[in-house]
Amino acid sequence: MVYVTRREVFSASHRLTNPELSDEENNAVYDKCNYQYGHGHNYILEVIVAGEINPKTGYVIDLKKLKKIVREKVISKVDHHHFNFDIDFMKGIIPTVENIAIGIWKLLENEISEGKLYSVKLYETENNYAEYKGE
Ligand code: NI
Repeated sequence: MVYVTRREVFSASHRLTNPELSDEENNAVYDKCNYQYGHGHNYILEVIVAGEINPKTGYVIDLKKLKKIVREKVISKVDHHHFNFDIDFMKGIIPTVENIAIGIWKLLENEISEGKLYSVKLYETENNYAEYKGE
């Protein structure tokens, strides 16, 4: 089994807030991330595909194909958008880095043409990231 990774970057805004909590509770839980107009991040996304090497091509998946899939299915929907307002797949979901990683997994899991989606790793800052492997 070999693991290949496509890395993409995108910029997007979010506000961490739970509509079921009071303003005071939201402030206590999310602090600055609860700021009413939201704030932006430069996200780094790593999509890892696992599979056997195809002896004809030497590839697990042609990384040009993986790039196209990730850009079409994910980046086009999130880059320069706001997770709380105009990103369909996050509707009604608190846009933490954990939940966004799961949302991206769901967008990609049935789109990988060769090999299998193994992991979605999403960096929100240099030091904070979430990784989802489908369970
Ligand atoms: Ni944030």
